[in-house]
Amino acid sequence: MNTATFETLVEVMKARHSVRKYETGVEIPRSELDEILELAASAPSSWNLQHWRFLVVTNQEKKERLLPLAYNQQQVVDASAVIIVLGDVKANLAVRDIYGKALEEGLINQQVFDIMVNQVEGAYASNSEIGMKEAILNASLASMQLMLAAKAKGYDTCPMGGIDRDGIVKECNIPDRYYPVMMLTLGKASTPAHATGRLPLSDLVINESF
Ligand SMILES: Cc1cc2nc3c(=O)[nH]c(=O)nc-3n(C[C@H](O)[C@H](O)[C@H](O)COP(=O)(O)O)c2cc1C
Repeated sequence: MNTATFETLVEVMKARHSVRKYETGVEIPRSELDEILELAASAPSSWNLQHWRFLVVTNQEKKERLLPLAYNQQQVVDASAVIIVLGDVKANLAVRDIYGKALEEGLINQQVFDIMVNQVEGAYASNSEIGMKEAILNASLASMQLMLAAKAKGYDTCPMGGIDRDGIVKECNIPDRYYPVMMLTLGKASTPAHATGRLPLSDLVINESF
């Protein structure tokens, strides 16, 4: 990675803010949307279980139906796309597929396959809370990558946790394996995001120990 790469990354990270006012009627080409989603899906995840799914809504009528489920946050209908980032609460069920593919591709050997399967199945069997915790944790990482990738492609986003999750599950027929972690709007800003501040590092960093 060279200095220019770093500077570009810094520029994108600093430019990303939560945009709530969008140009209406803008269609994002599917190829660009897919590029953004691919980058989101390159996020790291616990045991590489890739706990995220992206429910993409671009149909205007469907966005209108999501509006009350986002407590009437106008960006839901104005943005080009609404992406409901889902977390897989039963990601352990994917372990054999994911590591089976890695085995087939020669990325790992049988011994590593067995170890990973045992670890994941053991962890999920011994802790009833792990499924939800891992779903939220890992889907959030993909969400962050999605927002940065979108910004780098010239789009803006707004993450939303102020949503009626039960209502969204019903409206979108989401199977109980998936939990709506957050909703993201994606589109072209019509008005820049309002300025926000950040706490200074002196409030945020604890060196060595409390
Ligand atoms: C998990 C999460 C939930 C959020 N929920 C909402 C929301 O429901 N509506 C909204 O307008 N902004 C929401 N935001 C955006 C925050 O208000 C925003 O990120 C914060 O004020 C910092 O501003 P910035 O993103 O523009 O830098 C949410 C952000 C996060 C990370």
